[in-house]
Amino acid sequence: MKIILKIQRYNPETDKKPVFKEYTVEVDPNERLLDALMQVKRFQDGSLVFRKSCAHGVCGSDAMMINGKDGLACKTLIKTLVDKAGDTITIKPLRHLPVQRDLIVDQSEFFAKYRSIKPFLINEEPVPGKERLQSPEERKQFDDTTNCILCASCYSACPVLDDNQGFLGPAAICQACRFLVDSRDRGFDDRLAVLDAPDGVWPCENHFKCTQVCPRSILITKRINQTKRMLEKHKTDDTA
Ligand code: SF4
Ligand code: SF4
Ligand code: FES
Repeated sequence: MKIILKIQRYNPETDKKPVFKEYTVEVDPNERLLDALMQVKRFQDGSLVFRKSCAHGVCGSDAMMINGKDGLACKTLIKTLVDKAGDTITIKPLRHLPVQRDLIVDQSEFFAKYRSIKPFLINEEPVPGKERLQSPEERKQFDDTTNCILCASCYSACPVLDDNQGFLGPAAICQACRFLVDSRDRGFDDRLAVLDAPDGVWPCENHFKCTQVCPRSILITKRINQTKRMLEKHKTDDTA
């Protein structure tokens, strides 16, 4: 069937501000949105730019706003977006990050926040034997968080970032939690200053928008609240 892709376009070299451009494409409703975007790029307008790589929900590069909801173009079926021929799918770049061109945003700030929580195992203690062992139960404590593909959908969806660009954001906090609950990690104090800062975990208002859009079904808000509880416990233990 024929549908319309209404895509936000912006070329900083020629455009003063973003404009929408419409493309009519012939699609199978069982195709993914990425297929339709590729069709535009290949056969209608080679100047359209967007990121993509794996096309299978693994690399996290084709996150965008699709009919007002953040998600991966390669994991979104067209039939979930339109009912009938002639319907329109509106596509915009992620929010809260500067648009470089068309659907490509500058992810520097997102990754700077991610790096600020030291997303790696911290443990200066000598390695016992060959490796730091962990039971299956201990591994389960952070299982879902390891599925993050750093797509920034959650970062775009979070309403707190509308008014507070400094907020650390859901992905970074979720990945901090991933290490804080890892039985092998000793980096709580190293991450404390960033997480406990005014722009750290506390601005989160439990809107759950991040959790709703995460293409990897990570319970982000639950992890943020878990992190808050760990910080609160640390403060209580300190004053006891
Ligand atoms: S937590 Fe989910 S939405 Fe956020 S960056 Fe990771 S995979 Fe993407
Ligand atoms: S739960 Fe917190 S981080 Fe997630 S969208 Fe809501 S305010 Fe943002
Ligand atoms: S292209 Fe890699 S996640 Fe969609």
